[in-house]
Amino acid sequence: MNCLSSKRILLGITGGIAAYKAAELVRRLRERGAEVRVVMTEAAQAFITPLTLQALSGQRVHTDLLDADAEAAMGHIELARWADAVLVAPATADFLARLAQGRADDLLATLCLATRVPLAVAPAMNQAMWTNPATRDNLALLARRGVQVWGPAEGAQACGETGPGRLLEPEVLLERLDGLFAGGALAGKRVLITAGPTREAIDPVRFLSNRSSGKMGYALAAAAVEAGAEVILVSGPVALDCPPGVTLLRAEDALTMYALVQERAPLADIFIATAAVADYRPRQVATAKIKKDAATTLTLELERNPDILAAVAALPGAPFCVGFAAETDDLAAHARKKRLAKGLDLVAANWVGAPGQGFDSDDNALELFWEGGQESLPEAPKTRLARELIGIIARLYQEKYPQGTPQDLHAQDSA
Ligand code: C5P
Repeated sequence: MNCLSSKRILLGITGGIAAYKAAELVRRLRERGAEVRVVMTEAAQAFITPLTLQALSGQRVHTDLLDADAEAAMGHIELARWADAVLVAPATADFLARLAQGRADDLLATLCLATRVPLAVAPAMNQAMWTNPATRDNLALLARRGVQVWGPAEGAQACGETGPGRLLEPEVLLERLDGLFAGGALAGKRVLITAGPTREAIDPVRFLSNRSSGKMGYALAAAAVEAGAEVILVSGPVALDCPPGVTLLRAEDALTMYALVQERAPLADIFIATAAVADYRPRQVATAKIKKDAATTLTLELERNPDILAAVAALPGAPFCVGFAAETDDLAAHARKKRLAKGLDLVAANWVGAPGQGFDSDDNALELFWEGGQESLPEAPKTRLARELIGIIARLYQEKYPQGTPQDLHAQDSA
């Protein structure tokens, strides 16, 4: 898909080590036929030179709000009007804080305030700065105002630490920008998805788990990106590649998955829980490998894991919530009961034990239940089923929130 041809992209670069990736992004955008203008903060210029970006964009780079010559060439308001979309990548913690405050103390912040086109930020920072409540609050505020937050990815950081805070790769940012113009059924929507099994540790080498392959969740993530959504996939351990354009967060066990989902859910418009979360975890995780002894039995005491989906559905301003239900008998009655018990907008139920369908297979069939409606999606490859399901979710979401988002409605209710 290339919807970037002839699009005018204003790229803001702020002062982080990931600024060097912006050069590659500019090059790729131009390859796709986009026009690019670059605005750099003062700190960004300490990491990469305006000359590099000028050469790659083929345009003068804008750096100064109060430069009479630059303003004469194209004033900041004109620049804000010129763009079809504004992306700030990398966006530092400081820049996000200034944006959240609505400051206009440099050219880039002023442009972001002045523009009426879609504004996206791709954060990049040290993992502790990313998880700091001040940054979280700033991002929640920006997301409520409609700013799209792309990433960050997690992994090794330039500072030597590991965790969330890496700038998304240029090709992922490219897909996200493309998605903005694709005008799909979920264009501009933020979709959070869980997938795969969880592993509940017994000791350092053993765990309790299940047969979930993650295929349905990964197919839904790919279909949601195709429909123009910004997608975060929280995945248990699976043997699948992350679909292009999806932000992947890995969770080994249910408690980690719960924490990651709780952190991201307040910013999501739609939450789809496909993960086969272990209902129980060992109460005690042995610190050393449990040795076999003469006894012929071993008793493990288990305790309940939190229900990730029910907890999201109970949040104030909860996203549109979709759950899955694997049933062996009386599918419709059990699925309807589950929908009400967990407070879901939609439940997708499937028979388990049917040959060639369900957990580890490539095909599935689903029965969908929502308030006042139901629909059958007959057996098909999970990739096709995922597209159909995303189409139905988009339609039901639109009917429930014809204007605004779940968070907007909550903010109005509590005002
Ligand atoms: O209650 P049951 O496990 O049958 O519900 C299945 C649905 O709930 C799935 O959508 C699953 O992803 C979600 N779930 C969850 N957290 C749990 C258990 C189930 O999110 N601890």
